[in-house]
Amino acid sequence: MTVLDHTSTSTSTSTSTSTSTSTSTPAPARPAASPAVVAAAARGATKTYGSGDTQVVALAGVDVDFEAARFTAVMGPSGSGKSTLMHCMAGLDRLSAGSVTVGGVDVTAASERELTLLRRDRLGFVFQAFNLVPTLSALENITLPITLARRRPDQAWIDTVVETVGLTHRLGHRPGQLSGGQQQRVAVARALATRPEIVFADEPTGNLDSATGAEILAFMRHAVRDLGQTIVMVTHDPVAASYAHRVVFLADGRVRDELLAPTPDAVIDHMRRLGGR
Ligand SMILES: Nc1ncnc2c1ncn2[C@@H]1O[C@H](COP(=O)(O)OP(=O)(O)O)[C@@H](O)[C@H]1O
Ligand SMILES: [Mg+2]
Repeated sequence: MTVLDHTSTSTSTSTSTSTSTSTSTPAPARPAASPAVVAAAARGATKTYGSGDTQVVALAGVDVDFEAARFTAVMGPSGSGKSTLMHCMAGLDRLSAGSVTVGGVDVTAASERELTLLRRDRLGFVFQAFNLVPTLSALENITLPITLARRRPDQAWIDTVVETVGLTHRLGHRPGQLSGGQQQRVAVARALATRPEIVFADEPTGNLDSATGAEILAFMRHAVRDLGQTIVMVTHDPVAASYAHRVVFLADGRVRDELLAPTPDAVIDHMRRLGGR
């Protein structure tokens, strides 16, 4: 397995990037010396629903880069466009204007067929409601995307993912026989099974108690740190966001701010300040 050159020499998530994203200065850009690989990006991403009086602007021109092998959290008030952004970036919905690229591919210009392939081969998605197939075992759920794609599974990778999920002794169980946390771990493993370039997760811990949520978050952080995955996760929970390398804040369909090496307190502080604007 050569793909993942995750130079995990350091365990510190809070790298040299200035953590003091202090009051007025915007989050510093990554130093030019270490150019980041961008896994996915939005430019002028705009999404409106309906028309006329009932028109809703869900995204009002979002510009954002999501770096490869990084764990990014997306936060913002309810209705700020978080889910819409995730869906449009993952090719589950179409923008009204602007563009989205994943791994350099213009998702917005893709045909339906290309989108299907993109979603199948290059993207993973984790929903708040686990969306597992109840009649399939945990293992069958995890390998479902591969089965559907009629691809030969990369057994070493599947083993790694399964081991990482820590459900080795539950692989034969159906979703109904698993706890919520275990089901969501299966869902995250399923999103990783095809080794996608990027995983989008929309409030993956929203339906879990905090202990189980912590399991999932630790697992996702591990997938990023040790397996080189790229994960973008929507959350409303400052503790969940603190597992990420970076937090991007949305409000009214726009990116308002960002925070590197977030701590729960810093996230709360930021949200308070944004709310007060
Ligand atoms: N299918 C839809 N039809 C109409 N309006 C929608 C639709 N989906 C989302 N919206 C609206 O777009 C805005 C952003 O929604 P959403 O992206 O779900 O926000 P968030 O995930 O941040 O809570 C909200 O005002 C929401 O009501
Ligand atoms: Mg949402």
